[in-house]
Amino acid sequence: MPATAESGRKGGKAGTKRLFFALWPDETTRQAINEVAATAVPESGGTAVAPENYHITLRFLGNVASTKMKSLRKAAELTFGLEQHIRLDRLGFWEGPGVVWLGCQKSHDNMLRLVVNLNTELGGVGFPHENRPFRPHVTLARNGTQEPATALARPLDWHSDEFVLVASTTGPKGSRYEVLERYPLRKPEG
Ligand code: 2AM
Repeated sequence: MPATAESGRKGGKAGTKRLFFALWPDETTRQAINEVAATAVPESGGTAVAPENYHITLRFLGNVASTKMKSLRKAAELTFGLEQHIRLDRLGFWEGPGVVWLGCQKSHDNMLRLVVNLNTELGGVGFPHENRPFRPHVTLARNGTQEPATALARPLDWHSDEFVLVASTTGPKGSRYEVLERYPLRKPEG
């Protein structure tokens, strides 16, 4: 089948979308992350991620057929998760892909529970089991050649009361992410 403008531009194959679930920062958090990136990314020699693309991936799904969207939404709606209080207090570097990232010193139990619950619900509607360990991070840059020299000046506190379903498309200027659906997280009781 010849490539259409649609299939050529989009991240997924025809009839599919390239999808992932994520925590999506509010505007204030996005700006604070961008301030960290302004120093860290040039120091790494990497290519900056566009600020509007900052997020923490909860589960990457890859290409999902449009016929599976209904069950995907059902799994997300059934997922129980508490509001997230995230402290980004760690600036890191993965040498292989040259990724500069912001993450957490401590493990965030509430985030892990959310990911486990999401993966369980996805399994319940037929999505494959996720074998890769969950490493919560915000990617700031890719293809860096060295670790940023300047340490993180202060932690960033981010409160999130929802998680989102995102579609990724690849265009001439790199990846573009579109939030398709939003799912509320609950307040703890008491
Ligand atoms: P990354 O930022 O560390 O590359 C969309 O691609 C999001 O899903 C990115 O945050 C990316 O993480 C994450 N992701 C996880 N597994 C992936 C995979 N196998 N391919 C592409 N992206 C993946």
